[in-house]
Order: sequence, then C-alpha cells, then structure tokens
Amino acid sequence: MNQHERIKAEDRPPADADMPVAAAAVTDRVWNTLLAARKTGAARPSPGWTTAESAAWKLYAPLLGRDDRPLVFAQIGQSLDGRVATVDGDAADVSGAEGLMHLHRCRALADCVIVGANTAIQDNPRLTVRLVKGDNPARVVIDPRGRLSEDAALLTGAGCLVVQACEQKRPAGVETIKVASSAEGLDAVSIVAGLIERGFRRIMIEGGGKTIGRFMDADLVDRLHVGISPLIIGAGPSGLTTNPVSLLAQAKRPRARVYGLGSDIIIDCDLKG
Ligand SMILES: NC(=O)c1ccc[n+]([C@@H]2O[C@H](COP(=O)([O-])OP(=O)(O)OC[C@H]3O[C@@H](n4cnc5c(N)ncnc54)[C@H](OP(=O)(O)O)[C@@H]3O)[C@@H](O)[C@H]2O)c1
Repeated sequence: MNQHERIKAEDRPPADADMPVAAAAVTDRVWNTLLAARKTGAARPSPGWTTAESAAWKLYAPLLGRDDRPLVFAQIGQSLDGRVATVDGDAADVSGAEGLMHLHRCRALADCVIVGANTAIQDNPRLTVRLVKGDNPARVVIDPRGRLSEDAALLTGAGCLVVQACEQKRPAGVETIKVASSAEGLDAVSIVAGLIERGFRRIMIEGGGKTIGRFMDADLVDRLHVGISPLIIGAGPSGLTTNPVSLLAQAKRPRARVYGLGSDIIIDCDLKG
C-alpha cells in the first residue's frame, strides 16, 4: 500500500460529536436501575436524571446486551503509556479508585469473567464483586498447559471453570472445558461456544492483554472498555496484544465514546458497530 492508499482523515469513522467526553456519575439510583435491568430487562433510565447520570447509563447499558444473542465484552485498565502492570508484576493500583469500581461494576453485570493463565498466576485474583452492590460472576481461567497451582484463589468455592488442553486434574467442584490446542493456541470460538452452552450470556474478558487479544483477533469481542489512568509505568505488560498491522490504514478504528470517571477516563469501543 502506498502513500495514496493511506486512509484519508475524512474516511475515518466520525467521533460522536454529541458527546466527545462525558463525565459519568454512577449514583445509587443509576446503579440500582442497571442491576434491575440486568435481572428483568425492563428497567429504564428516568427523565429526571442528571446529564452525568444519563452518561453513566450510556456507558453501562450496552453491557446488558440483548435477549436474542450473547454478548462478549472486555475491559482493561492501563497507564498513560499503555501498561497494565510493572515488570515485577505489581498490578494492584494501575486504575484509580473510580476505575477500580468500574471494573467491579463490569464484573457485576457479567455472567462469567475470563482471565488468562498469566494473570491468574501473577495476580492470584478472586474476581469477585466487592466494591459495588451486585452478584459475583462465575470465574473462568484459560490455563491450556495446567500451570495454575491448585491452591489458586480462583479455584476455591463454587462457580469456577478452567479451559484447558491438557489432562490436568483440578480441585473438587471446578469444572473443566477441554479445548483442542493448535499452533495458534486454543480456539477462541470454541471457548465462547463452550461458555454459551453452559448458559452464560454476558461474557466478560478481564485480561491480561494477550487473552483479550486472542478473542479480538477472532472477532469475538462486541464491546471493549479501555480505562486510562494518569500514571506512567515505563515498562511492563501491554494493555492489548492483538495481531499487528504494518500501516495505520489497516488499524481497527472502532466507533468510540469517552467517559470521565474520577481520575480515569474510560474509552467505550463498539467493535461491531
Ligand atoms: N490492569 C488490568 O486491567 C489487568 C487485568 C488483567 C491482567 N493484568 C496484568 O496482565 C498481566 C498478564 O497479562 P498477559 O497478557 O501477560 O497474560 P494473560 O492474558 O493473563 O495470560 C496469557 C496466557 O493465557 C493462556 N491463554 C489465554 N488465551 C489463550 C488461548 N486462546 N489459547 C492459548 N492460550 C491462551 C496462555 O497460557 P500458557 O502460556 O500457559 O499457554 C497465555 O500465555 C499481569 O501482569 C496482570 O497483572 C492487568
């Protein structure tokens, strides 16, 4: 592709002119309405809400999906230089206080939350909802080669699934989904199909960047939330690791809206729009 074939500015998808950056206020009445809508599908925003409350609804309501098809969404919290942790594995406070609440809200709206083996091993997360009101989602870890220790926090209690290619035995109560491995890794389409078969309709991918990238490269992610927090880490794992392009003209340019949440911004990308 030569210079003349590069994408022209006017051919790029337009930014949403009506709301370039919107401060979002997730008040109790907004959050309770979202939780009710998650359960019944009938709850709606009230005309009396403030502009910031309406913005919060617009940020989260797409994660509720539609009755007639499952929804796959991903969320990642990163620094100004696109890192999600330090090289030594410190990832606890990349996001600010509101960014962390955003993560917990995403979990509360999901039926299940997926993490990759590196995240499960390095962070030992519980993937529960603790910072906001809401139910815990089921926890899913993709551990193709059985690297995760059986005393990992994720593998305790009900509602845990491991996606694997090996014959590794898991602790009692943990369900395994066997997916064949190829040179490209585990087939992301089969992983999503296995979760849908088990009744999960809202599937969240929490990270890290490699795992989100696998689902994005398979064109399976409907919605992507990238949280950016004003800190600079210098080095460390990247937010998203997808197939690279050689020219910017080939880059994905999703339709996006930007929301302010405390010190962080959330870029809400509609990858299927
Ligand atoms: N700030 C945030 O929002 C956030 C969120 C989550 C994680 N993190 C950070 O991200 C870092 C880890 O991220 P990461 O990108 O290095 O790794 P990762 O995505 O957590 O895990 C990648 C690993 O998961 C397995 N895997 C996932 N999908 C697969 C597929 N389709 N096929 C085959 N294998 C698959 C592979 O395991 P094998 O190598 O065993 O085959 C792969 O190497 C940690 O430092 C963590 O703290 C940050």
